[in-house]
Amino acid sequence: MKSLFGKLADGTKVHRWSLENGGTRLKVLNWGGVVQGLEIPDRHGHYTNVALGFDNIDDYVAKTPYFGALIGRYGNRIAKGQFTLDGKSYQLSVNDGVNSLHGGKQGFDKHIWDVEPFAKGSDVGLVLHYTSIDGEMGYPGTLKAKVTYTLTRHGDWIIDYEATTDKATVVNLTSHVYWNLAGEGSGTVEDHELTIAAGRYTPTDTGLIPTGELAKVSGTPFDFRKTKTIGRDIRDGHVQQVQAKGYDHNWVLDKGITSKPEHVATLREPRSGRTLKIATDQPGLQFYSGNFLDGTLTGTGGRTYRQGDALCLETQHFPDAPNHPNFPSTVLRPGQTYRTRTVHTFGA
Ligand code: BGC
Repeated sequence: MKSLFGKLADGTKVHRWSLENGGTRLKVLNWGGVVQGLEIPDRHGHYTNVALGFDNIDDYVAKTPYFGALIGRYGNRIAKGQFTLDGKSYQLSVNDGVNSLHGGKQGFDKHIWDVEPFAKGSDVGLVLHYTSIDGEMGYPGTLKAKVTYTLTRHGDWIIDYEATTDKATVVNLTSHVYWNLAGEGSGTVEDHELTIAAGRYTPTDTGLIPTGELAKVSGTPFDFRKTKTIGRDIRDGHVQQVQAKGYDHNWVLDKGITSKPEHVATLREPRSGRTLKIATDQPGLQFYSGNFLDGTLTGTGGRTYRQGDALCLETQHFPDAPNHPNFPSTVLRPGQTYRTRTVHTFGA
């Protein structure tokens, strides 16, 4: 079902598609491919929207928390917005202090995408297209991006990312849903239980740029190999947490890059019993504990979002990989197709 969500300043219409399958209800905008709502039942069958969002287009245009958005061309930070590829230096749009974050000032989250609904067998979904022209935000090559959102008959939400380029470039696409499995606007996620299958993470400097080290999680608050609540060690005072105001790091997934998605993380909210399992073929997972939510944004339910009221689990290549030869490469060349998949499985 398609409805009018609002209009941009120039009169362009922003639409919202509502899909439902297997007990999952998804609302998606053609603005940024934004997941504006995602409703799933609790153990008693009671539905709640578990994804943070705005109820109007103006906030999506003016504000930049990246609620529910598709992120491109490069998820997370590139130091000073600079990198060198095949001997050429590139300067990207800088929008986070001296660094480039989530594709720069006008990333994929701040564009209109072409959206086509589909139904295939027992699946329903949307195909989203966006073409980023050569030089946009400083990135080389015209990048044609295609993202498919699928809702399966089991209620799984699958994201398939594809991209091609006509010049060598770097690419790292992800999705920036802020989860609160008790319901958006219901308060802190510190009681959510999290498991991440990663023995290492990438520590950062004060600008949240990876130092290049793949540090062991053992004996640190970053160890989520055994299920624990997000709140348990979040106030440990580890220098990495103090810098980031909580968790805002890339976990180096034990499985590495895989040809098919493998299960890497489980999130559970004990009162509702709602669970989210994430499977990916990507080598990294950014766990961001909503550190910069500060009570100034009002969400879809009319309540404000404060620090720690949601968390993001962004499947990805590592931040700043173009400047770290020891990180898995994010280079895409003409003739190649960038293809990655992330599967979200919900339960209660
Ligand atoms: C980043 C955070 C950033 C947030 C919202 C996350 O993916 O890791 O540092 O503040 O997105 O922009």
